[in-house]
Amino acid sequence: MGQAIPRYEATAKVTGQPLYAADEPIARPLYAFFKTSGVARGTIASLDVRKAEAMPGVMKVYTHRNAPPRKAVKHIMTGGYMSDTNIPLADNRVRHDGDIVAMVVADSYEIARDAANRIEVRYAAQAPAATFGSPGAVKKVPEQAQKNAKKAGDFAAGWSRAPVKVDARYSTPTQHHNPIELYATTAVWNGDQLTFYEPSQFVYSTANGLAEQIGVDPAKVHLVNPYVGGGFGGKGILTQRTALVALAARDLGRPVKLVLHRKQAYGLTTYRAETRQRVRLGADRNGKLVAFAHDGEEVTSRADDYMVGGVENTVEMYACPNIATSVTLVKADRNTPGFMRSPPETPYMFGLESAMDELAVALNMDPVELRRINDTQKSPISGAPYTSRSLMQCYDQAAAAFGWSRRNPRPLSMSQGDWLIGWGCATATYPTNMMASTARIRLTADGKAVVEVAAHDMGQGAYTAMQQIAAKRLGLDPRQVTVRMGDSALPPGPVAGGSMTTASAGSAVHTAAGKIAARFGGAMPAPNDLDDAFRRLGVTQIEEYAEWWPPGQGPQAVRALYKGSMGGGGGEEGEQQEGNAGGGKPMMAAFGAEFVEVRIHRLTREIRVPRMTGAFAAGHIVNPRTARSQYLGGMIWGMASALLEATEVDAKRARYVNDNIAEYLVAVNADVPQVDVILVPEVDTKVNPLGVKGIGELANVGTAAAIANAVYHATGKRIRDLPITMDKLL
Ligand code: MOS
Repeated sequence: MGQAIPRYEATAKVTGQPLYAADEPIARPLYAFFKTSGVARGTIASLDVRKAEAMPGVMKVYTHRNAPPRKAVKHIMTGGYMSDTNIPLADNRVRHDGDIVAMVVADSYEIARDAANRIEVRYAAQAPAATFGSPGAVKKVPEQAQKNAKKAGDFAAGWSRAPVKVDARYSTPTQHHNPIELYATTAVWNGDQLTFYEPSQFVYSTANGLAEQIGVDPAKVHLVNPYVGGGFGGKGILTQRTALVALAARDLGRPVKLVLHRKQAYGLTTYRAETRQRVRLGADRNGKLVAFAHDGEEVTSRADDYMVGGVENTVEMYACPNIATSVTLVKADRNTPGFMRSPPETPYMFGLESAMDELAVALNMDPVELRRINDTQKSPISGAPYTSRSLMQCYDQAAAAFGWSRRNPRPLSMSQGDWLIGWGCATATYPTNMMASTARIRLTADGKAVVEVAAHDMGQGAYTAMQQIAAKRLGLDPRQVTVRMGDSALPPGPVAGGSMTTASAGSAVHTAAGKIAARFGGAMPAPNDLDDAFRRLGVTQIEEYAEWWPPGQGPQAVRALYKGSMGGGGGEEGEQQEGNAGGGKPMMAAFGAEFVEVRIHRLTREIRVPRMTGAFAAGHIVNPRTARSQYLGGMIWGMASALLEATEVDAKRARYVNDNIAEYLVAVNADVPQVDVILVPEVDTKVNPLGVKGIGELANVGTAAAIANAVYHATGKRIRDLPITMDKLL
C-alpha cells in the first residue's frame, strides 16, 4: 500500500479557500432563475410574464416564445453528451415535474426569483404516468438490454431440477443526490470565447457538449471547475440548464449566473430511478447454485432509454451453470434518470444478496458458508478468470473482526432489554472500470513538479492520489508536487464516474512521470541532485505529456476522450463490458464483505445500526487514509439507502413529494455510531500498471442487503422493499 498522507487540499478546504463554481468572483453578473412547471405532463395554455417583466431590475424573461434555439444533442449513453434530451423552452410542452417553463434574468438573484414567482402559467394538463403500473407507462426492452443480457446453460432446466429454491421480488426506491454544493452555472463571454463555471465530474464532456448544443467551436469553450462539493453521479452529465445560461449571457452581453434551487434540482438533474426485480436462485441440498435468474424493471423518461442494467453484474458473482437475465424499461412522464453511486450494483446487489440470505435460511446454512461454497475465480458466463478476487479473504477478516462466530442463527434469538438484535452480512463488488487519460508533468530543477490532468476531485481524494503517484515515480516528497485538475484547458482525463479516476488518470500520470525519468536514463536522480542533473542536460525544466489507454483499447480512445466522449471504449457505458467482459476478456473487479448489527425496538420498531464492519480488497491502495474514508462514506451511504433515502413520487401527479434535503433523509453522525474498515491486501498485476482497482463506489454496494438480512435475523421479517422503515416492521 501507499503512504497514508493527509489529503492534498485538506488545509485549503478547512480554511474555506477553495472556490466552488458559484463562488467564482465575476464582475457585474446578471442572475437567472427558472420558473418550473407545476404539472408533469401537458401544454402551456397561457403564460403571462408582464408582471415579471415590469419589475425593476428584470432584464429579460425567456419563454418558449423567445428562447434561443439549441441544437438537439444525443444522450451521453448513445454517443452524445446530454443527461436528458428533452429541450426545455423549445415548445409549449411540459414533459415532467419541474420542467423549465421560463427563465428570468435580472440584476440580482432576489429580483430574478421574485419575478419568476410572478409569472402566471395555466396548463392544459394531461394525466401523467408516474411509475411502474401507472396507466400510460410503456414497457420497452431496449436494444442495449438485449445486447447485455447474460446467459449460461439452461436456466429453465436447472430451475426445474433444483431441490431448494428462492423466488422473490425486491424493489428499490427513487433516490436523488442532494449534494451540499448546489447545481450552478455561470457563463462569461469574452468576444466569441466562452468561459463557464459549473460543478462537473467530466469537464471535457460538459464543455464539448455545450459547444455542440450552442453551435460554437469547442476550442472556444472553457469550463473551469477545480472543486466539486459532492457529486455522486449527478454532476457527471451535461444538463439542459447550461446552454440556456450561456445563450442568455451572449444575448444580454453580460455574465449570467444561475444557482438552481434545491427543489429544482429534483427535476432538472438526474437521479436514481426506482427498480423492481425478481430473483430466482436454485441450489442443490449442499448449497451449490444450479440456477440463477435475475430480471429487472427500471423507470426512465419518455425521451431517453437510460438504464443501469445491473443484472449483468449480479450474475457474475457466484459459480452457477444455468443463468438468465433481463431488464425492461418502463417509460413514464419523468425527467431522465442517470448515474448515482454504483448505478447498477446498488439496487441489483440488494436483490441478489437478500436472496442469497433467503437461500441460506432455506438451506439452514450459514450465509458466509453459502458464499464460500459458491465462490468463483472465473466468470460463470464466459469462463474468463478474474485478474484477482479476494472475496472470501474479505469475508474471513470481516467475520473475525465482527465476531460472527458468536451469532445464533435463529431469528429473534438475540436481544438486549427491549431491543431485538440482528446480525447480517452481504457481498460488495464494483467492476474495475477504466478510460483513456492523458497527463502533463513539469519538473523543475528545484525539485518541484506540477501535474496537470482534467480529472476531478469531488471529495474522493483524487488530488492526493495524483500527487502521490507522481511523487513516487519522480522520487519526490509529495509536498513538492502541485496538482491541477478540473479545467477543460488541461490535458483530458476520465469522467469522475465508474470509480475509475485513480486507475485511469493515475496511469497517465505514472506514464508521464516515467517519461521524465527516461530523460535521466530511467532512474530519477535524488531531489538534491536534480539541480546538477538538469545542468548536465542543459535544461531548466522538463515537461512530458503522456497518453494512456486501458488494455484492449487504442489511440482512438484518446481521440474520443478529447471530444469528451464516453464511447471511446470505456466509461460508464463500458461499465458492463469492462467489468464483466464476456468473450474471454479478463474479469476485473474489487470485492468486499460487510457485516452489520441492527437493533430494533420490540414495541416501536425503531431501527438503529450500532455497528458495521467492512473488509475490502481492491488491488493496490494508493493512500490507505483516503481509501478508508471512501469505504467509511460508502458504508454510510449504503446504510442511508437501506433505511432512509427515498424520493416519494406522487402516483397520480408524477411529482416528487419530498423534493428538498429538508425532507429527503440522509444519514447523520448519530445514525452511525461505529464503522470499522479493514483493508485486505491484494496484488493485481494485470488490471493496469499500478495494480489499482476502483474503490469509490465499492463500499456502498451490499450494505443495504446486509442490513435487510440483519433485520430478518432480528425480527423474522424479510423486508424486500427499500427503504426499511418502522412501519414495514409493525
Ligand atoms: Mo458515479 S454514479 O459512477 O459518478
